[in-house]
Amino acid sequence: MHISSILRSSSHDKIHLIMTKRILPPKDRFQFPKNFVWGTATASAQIEGAAFEDGKCPSIWDTFARQPGKVAQGQNLDVACDHYHKFRSDFKLMKSLGIKNYRFSFSWCRLFPENNQTPNPKGVRFYRHLIEAMLENGITPWATMYHWDLPQYFQDQGGWLTRKMPEAFAPYVNFLVQTYGDLVKNWFTLNEVSCFIGGSYSPEGVQAPGLSKSPAEVNQATHYALLAHGYGVRAVREYGRKGSKVGMAENAHTFIPVLEDEDSIEAAREIYQIKNASMLGAMLRGGYDRYYQKLIPDRKERAQVEKGDFALMGEAVDFVGINIYTGGFVEKNSKGKAVEIPFPANYPRADSPWLRLNPRALYWGTRLAQDCYGAKAIHITENGFGYNDPDEVTGTYNDVHRKEYYRLYLEQAHRAIQDGVPLQGYFAWSFMDNFEWQDGYTRRFGMIHTDYKTLKRTPKLSAVWYSKVIHKNGLI
Ligand code: GAL
Repeated sequence: MHISSILRSSSHDKIHLIMTKRILPPKDRFQFPKNFVWGTATASAQIEGAAFEDGKCPSIWDTFARQPGKVAQGQNLDVACDHYHKFRSDFKLMKSLGIKNYRFSFSWCRLFPENNQTPNPKGVRFYRHLIEAMLENGITPWATMYHWDLPQYFQDQGGWLTRKMPEAFAPYVNFLVQTYGDLVKNWFTLNEVSCFIGGSYSPEGVQAPGLSKSPAEVNQATHYALLAHGYGVRAVREYGRKGSKVGMAENAHTFIPVLEDEDSIEAAREIYQIKNASMLGAMLRGGYDRYYQKLIPDRKERAQVEKGDFALMGEAVDFVGINIYTGGFVEKNSKGKAVEIPFPANYPRADSPWLRLNPRALYWGTRLAQDCYGAKAIHITENGFGYNDPDEVTGTYNDVHRKEYYRLYLEQAHRAIQDGVPLQGYFAWSFMDNFEWQDGYTRRFGMIHTDYKTLKRTPKLSAVWYSKVIHKNGLI
């Protein structure tokens, strides 16, 4: 026999030997701490539908969606996922996947459709049934007090541009905690001030109510939203049952040191504190610090502050909730200045153009909240990936793109925990495909596919995977 064929046959035997041995899954490399909170998130306007049923008044989004050109394909929120009627089967589905924590929001329009004084019994009953159904399915409610669906009647009086808004928010949130505090222990005040003010009142504003206001007006409106947040915290302190907890769900601007060396990290700390100074920083520090002045160098554009405002916006929270989808890279340039690095045009991203692949956002987004603001408990209140996926599916829809994003990001969440970041929970956005604001139903973020013609729900691969992650309390 020729020498080379001997080699070939012996190596073949070796391969055979290896192949017969089972390859086991990697050992617990990404195991999460005991009691880690695994959940999913949604919001009332995006899933409920029943936009004009049982007395609900129009929200600013109902109005906005009816203005030509504001929402993709002229779509509206009238039916959405019809969760209003289907919540019982939705919670059964959630239970079947092992999801035990659910972040949802209350619709102010359903609860106070005529004015801010007279609750609508049908709306009040709806949320009681909704929460009871969660609990019956072993699902812990995490309630958001306000997720963008402002009653139109408030907008007609100036909306967040006026101080009347936080003053109206106070009795609303008191009512929420008084009415549902027997069932709900975990509260989020506001969802993403930078979107419902910055993305809605500024010249770039593409969200409801779609106004184009000056920087001074935007900063003032932001200030009013922070006061509303403070009233939300106070409501839980005053009316929440023992052990109730409250925080915000803010989409902090996240910055990632492009190199994980001291210079880049220093740059990330600096830019992070400047860019978050008017929202997350203001809430956690209870005021506007020197970073706020760097962010808004023109005095005339800064918010007018009244006595007691800082104490209100800075009410101590029990946890810091942060929505993290993406982040920007930063470095120190040759002059020692902290700078953002522009993304190349072909940098990988989801179909949502703003949603660039940046898994380390989960590491640095939580780490900087701890380092800069002393956060002692952190929840990632949203994280997900939007694609223009098919309208109809049969069987499991193989959204490996979404599933791999989740996996990469969660590896970084795990890394943060290993490094001592007090990350206690993670809420995937979103439980099911839903009304994605100005993108209507064209952009899907769900782990469950929603067929908008039949309203059929079908778990995607990402849901099957997430269910296994929850079961193992670790990544697979
Ligand atoms: C967040 C928002 C959610 C959802 C998500 C995906 O900003 O809180 O409601 O739409 O983005 O874009």
